[in-house]
Amino acid sequence: PIIAVLAGGTSPEREVSLGSGRAVAQAMACSHLTRLFTVDHDALPEGLDPARHVVFSTLHGVFGEDGGMQRLLDAGGFSYGGCDAKASDLCFDKWRTRLSVSAMGVPVAPGRHFLAAGKPTAAALATELGQQVVLKPNRQGSSVGLQIVSSQVGLEIALGGIRAGDWVAERRILGREITVGLLRGRAMGIVEVVPKSGVYDYSSKYTKGLTEYLAPARLSDEMATRVRATAETAFAACGCRDYARIDFMISQEGELYLLEINTLPGMKDTSLLPMSARCVGLDFVALCRELVAPAVE
Ligand code: DAL
Ligand code: MG
Repeated sequence: PIIAVLAGGTSPEREVSLGSGRAVAQAMACSHLTRLFTVDHDALPEGLDPARHVVFSTLHGVFGEDGGMQRLLDAGGFSYGGCDAKASDLCFDKWRTRLSVSAMGVPVAPGRHFLAAGKPTAAALATELGQQVVLKPNRQGSSVGLQIVSSQVGLEIALGGIRAGDWVAERRILGREITVGLLRGRAMGIVEVVPKSGVYDYSSKYTKGLTEYLAPARLSDEMATRVRATAETAFAACGCRDYARIDFMISQEGELYLLEINTLPGMKDTSLLPMSARCVGLDFVALCRELVAPAVE
């Protein structure tokens, strides 16, 4: 088959996805006939043919990562790597992810889900979660729309700016941010991200030099084992397939909290999933081949 790499899309992460797609297409071309398809609408790209193409999606965000594209691929009879429509839909919803993983004993920070129309008061949220709060759109990637507040006044201002959509407010966990890639349900290396600003937001993610990465993270054997086991439990709890990247915080008290599951994580060769794979001896080209292998077989 020809590997059809899908990139672009209509979400705010379009540019990030184009970077992922170019890198993956280049890597896949080492071993397979490969074609890069740029997705410009919430639809299958023209020329995609289930008899000829196996799909490797590097779309991020709404439609690409949330099960929308996966549903179209299923309906069209395509073979593709990565999570199916149901798991994609679940993992793209931060709140439902929290419910699914915590039912399996995976810890998450205290939090609250609300609609813009029924938003809580700052006082109520501060009582429930404390003054250090992370506010994020429930369905979004790359920290787009994320706000961090550290006082009730800040919380009031942030809530005042919310006009639409559904949101998650979580107690901010101060400590270390780590992420772990999973391949076929097994955890690979753990990477620590150290943003110089203290917050791993959109610019810290995509501006060179704003974040340091420790790969592998320097963790005790006990903590590393706990992270891997927890990541594998969360992957299974959400019905994930093939691969994902799961983000966590380790608090100053040494407690682990799951932040979210990314079913189509960034795939430039400097991205976090490739870093995690490199920790276990899998280079970028080999990783790309592994990610789509179940769909090719
Ligand atoms: N949402 C971005 C692409 C990531 O998770 O890496
Ligand atoms: Mg994400």
